[in-house]
Amino acid sequence: MKRVDDFRLRFGTRELVPIIVGGMGVDISTAELALEAARLGGIGHISDAMVPTVSDRRFKTHFVKEKLKTYKYNVASADKSDVQFDLGRLAEATHNHVGRTMAAKRGNGLIFVNCMEKLTMNAPRDTLRVRLSAALDAGIDGITLSAGLHLGSFALIEDHPRFRDAKLGIIVSSLRALQLFLRKTARLGRLPDYVIVEGPLAGGHLGFGMDWVNYDLRLITAEIQQYLTTEKLDIPVIPAGGIFTGSDAVAFLETGAAAVQVATRFTVAKECGLPAEVQQEYFKASESDIEVNTISPTGYPMRMLKSSPAIGAGIRPNCEAYGYLLDGSGNCAYVTAYNREVVLHPDAKKLVVIEKTCLCTHMRNFDCWTCGHYTYRLKDTTRRLTNGNYQVLSAEHIFRDYQFSTDHTIALPA
Ligand SMILES: Cc1cc2nc3c(=O)[nH]c(=O)nc-3n(C[C@H](O)[C@H](O)[C@H](O)COP(=O)(O)O)c2cc1C
Repeated sequence: MKRVDDFRLRFGTRELVPIIVGGMGVDISTAELALEAARLGGIGHISDAMVPTVSDRRFKTHFVKEKLKTYKYNVASADKSDVQFDLGRLAEATHNHVGRTMAAKRGNGLIFVNCMEKLTMNAPRDTLRVRLSAALDAGIDGITLSAGLHLGSFALIEDHPRFRDAKLGIIVSSLRALQLFLRKTARLGRLPDYVIVEGPLAGGHLGFGMDWVNYDLRLITAEIQQYLTTEKLDIPVIPAGGIFTGSDAVAFLETGAAAVQVATRFTVAKECGLPAEVQQEYFKASESDIEVNTISPTGYPMRMLKSSPAIGAGIRPNCEAYGYLLDGSGNCAYVTAYNREVVLHPDAKKLVVIEKTCLCTHMRNFDCWTCGHYTYRLKDTTRRLTNGNYQVLSAEHIFRDYQFSTDHTIALPA
């Protein structure tokens, strides 16, 4: 019976354990978590979502405070088009986060950064170019482009000296999205180094509609593999979403996947950025406690615990401090939904906004408890302590369980 460790992910001459810990914003997939995956010979992701606030929290910088100070005059205004990111500051924050992570890297694995196109930051192209370039400048091993179509993203960095040496990959949820990407980037003469195929059971945003239940990761992966073979395109295919045991991973590796990307099992690692009390909520969850809803202002469905404080919270939009989801014209679906409620309930002390959530603030404060479909199985991966809590695991324990387990067994902690 095979184990994940019987396979290797090959990038040129480099051989890696074929386990990738997926990016989880905002700083849920911490540097510490990514560094463990790399130390153990796999690939770990950090995320560049809201990187100025991550830098503030970790490195005592003051990017958020400075931005808020600059735009304080606009806080009560419904029009957020004035609120722009300082590109120099954004580059600095990315440098802090990526550079310090890379400096701490040990072992044979790699560290990638997850970049979401949907963080449009009131100037989509300029801010994304800075985020990508600064990550390359700071020595990141690779960039995974996610959440959005990213049709123009490669072109944004085609003149960067590391454009052909860094690993660049893309997350797609359909063959069609991959075909569009390949067509759009054909003139650059540079294929993605890997394609992550994210199915409907993943955490975070989904690349499907509310009919996600009708899709199957196995079928989408097979379709993409078939297409790449027919087109004679040698791009490693990496499925993600609902791969919960080493044996789940082996089933994909045996049918030609180059590696697997996983995340949910690592949400309860001690190196994960979720606060300890939130991790207990993940452990406790049953299947009926999890939903896919449409409250993300990005327009993508998102999976989360129904008890997330973000759901229904009617806080004042915080775009002057954050503003990551403002589109190129300064609009965000939460700002629109919030302002509608203000007009409907002018005297209300506390508003309830059901339709959308202020994702920046709630992700920043770990109040949007996004999670994978199989979160309800996390309780089976650990022991219950005498105080009723579940034992948090080490990233190494989870990683090695994926690497060495057979027969769908899950090793409990010592
Ligand atoms: C808590 C959480 C946050 C996530 N955030 C992001 C994100 O910011 N960007 C992204 O591309 N994917 C995100 N994902 C998706 C993962 O990177 C990964 O592809 C997917 O969850 C794998 O499926 P699994 O969780 O069932 O193992 C997130 C997943 C989880 C569980």
